[in-house]
Amino acid sequence: MKLPVYLYGHPVLRNVSQPIEPEYQGLEKLLSDMWDTMYASDGVGLAAPQIGRNDRIVVIDADPVKEAFPECEGRKLTLINPEIEVLEGEKISRAEGCLSLPGLSENVERVENIRLRWVDEKFQPHEEIISGFLARIVQHECDHLEGLLYIDHVSGIRKQLIRGKLNNIVNGKTRCDYPVKYAPRKLK
Ligand code: NI
Repeated sequence: MKLPVYLYGHPVLRNVSQPIEPEYQGLEKLLSDMWDTMYASDGVGLAAPQIGRNDRIVVIDADPVKEAFPECEGRKLTLINPEIEVLEGEKISRAEGCLSLPGLSENVERVENIRLRWVDEKFQPHEEIISGFLARIVQHECDHLEGLLYIDHVSGIRKQLIRGKLNNIVNGKTRCDYPVKYAPRKLK
């Protein structure tokens, strides 16, 4: 079932999410809804806070960008309680977007190589060294679990320049071709 994507300004995107225990109820349904929501909005990744749940769950299907980034071919991941260790390597700047920030794209500097540890939907542990654009997607999605958004990594000047667009999202004045949930209205 497709769920609305929570947009920038909603407090759920700013909370630190909680680890998932094997006893977690309804995980299968939640993951199925996350995949449906991600595919319906043409995203390559989705973190649980983006559907309003502060749980440490991420889904990624990077295959659609394989032409530009061969390391993404066939990479479909369910990350539960993921942990990132930064490895040696360059920091690279590239454009990113986010389903919670429709109509925006900014360059973000991220490390090129990471070691990722996680458990899958059956709570089997995994560990893998990941590089390139796939490492970028993983870092972006795992940021969501810490209450961070990619715009937190852009310069103050750049943020000033996009302030109008950000305010439009907060105030519900943005166009989006997938279902969304806006921030609750502030009482003035
Ligand atoms: Ni995002």
